[in-house]
Amino acid sequence: MPLTILGIETSCDETAAAVYQEGPGVLSSALFSQIKLHQQYGGVVPEIASRSHLEKINPIITQALLEAKLTHTESKKDSQEIKNPALAPIDVIAVTNKPGLPGSLLVGVCFAKSLSWVLDKPLIGIDHLEAHIFSSFLEQQVPFPHLCLAASGGHTALYLVHDFGSYQILGQTLDDAAGEAFDKIAKVLNLEYPGGPIIEKQAEQEGFKDFFSYPRGTQQSTLDFSFSGLKTAVLYDLVKRNAYDLQSKKLLNDAQELKQQVASSLLVCVTDIFKHKIERALKHYPEIKAITFVGGVACNRYIKTQLQELCAKHEKPLFVPSPKYCGDNAAMVAFVGYYKAKRNQFDDLFLDILK
Ligand code: KG4
Ligand code: ZN
Repeated sequence: MPLTILGIETSCDETAAAVYQEGPGVLSSALFSQIKLHQQYGGVVPEIASRSHLEKINPIITQALLEAKLTHTESKKDSQEIKNPALAPIDVIAVTNKPGLPGSLLVGVCFAKSLSWVLDKPLIGIDHLEAHIFSSFLEQQVPFPHLCLAASGGHTALYLVHDFGSYQILGQTLDDAAGEAFDKIAKVLNLEYPGGPIIEKQAEQEGFKDFFSYPRGTQQSTLDFSFSGLKTAVLYDLVKRNAYDLQSKKLLNDAQELKQQVASSLLVCVTDIFKHKIERALKHYPEIKAITFVGGVACNRYIKTQLQELCAKHEKPLFVPSPKYCGDNAAMVAFVGYYKAKRNQFDDLFLDILK
């Protein structure tokens, strides 16, 4: 019988569930995005997030199970005793237990533990970042060792990936994440949350030109990132142009043209920083066979195209998951659950969350 994993993800503002099966791969990936609930606040409100997870977790898991169209086989353990027949073919329950918003993580972990106990099926706690790192395998085979650039709203880091479950961090953000920089600057510009997609749209209007040459910090010799300085640089540049008032925290010049030029310069700047760090990593680690770009920011078509050109120059293939697997999803959680289950790396019902 092929190993079948139910993955559950509730670390931030997406309630997600997926079924992954040895052989065919992803059988279903269901998701409820809370973006609309948080939009009016310009960012994720933890209390609203956990309440929404509570409401949605049951229907989303049910949707994932139904869409997987798993067939009921008597050979699966105790299948006749399980009330919900769609759960019978599930062998393992994998759930994100770190890092994330504590209240949100708790909803997924408590639900997964209850299922594991009631169904008497093994449980595996999954690191959300590990899930992003291996999300590139949901649709393709990536050679090892490879370099992974993971960029989302909460994290930005470069990893040297040796094998499934074996990776080393080469550099990470010392303050804000890249997606966070897009979100925060979008807020300054009175653009809606999340900032990344709207910054990309605005930048496109200006043909991705660099108007304001924001600092890249490329003199730094490490592989670490820092995006908080960039956010401050954008803010002070707006003040210098009499477009922003620091005291009232208000945008004084709401002109569309200025917003588009800021967005365009920002996107080009972040892309240059990514390119610079990747080139530095390739120089230090010549054994790298490929590059992967994952996380919500990897939805950005401009950055993707630029990285494609860079990788072609270095004769290394670039792998970027489809947008549905770049942002938070449970298929990547189920996939990590799959290779951990193959190695018998299970957890018990004392599994806890870690911020
Ligand atoms: O991976 P993700 O869905 O959630 C986290 O784990 O954080 O990433 C969300 C982040 C947000 O900061 C959002 O602004 C950014 O990804 N993002 C983008 C784009 N789409 C989403 N950033 C740049 N360009 C995009 N098209
Ligand atoms: Zn994420």
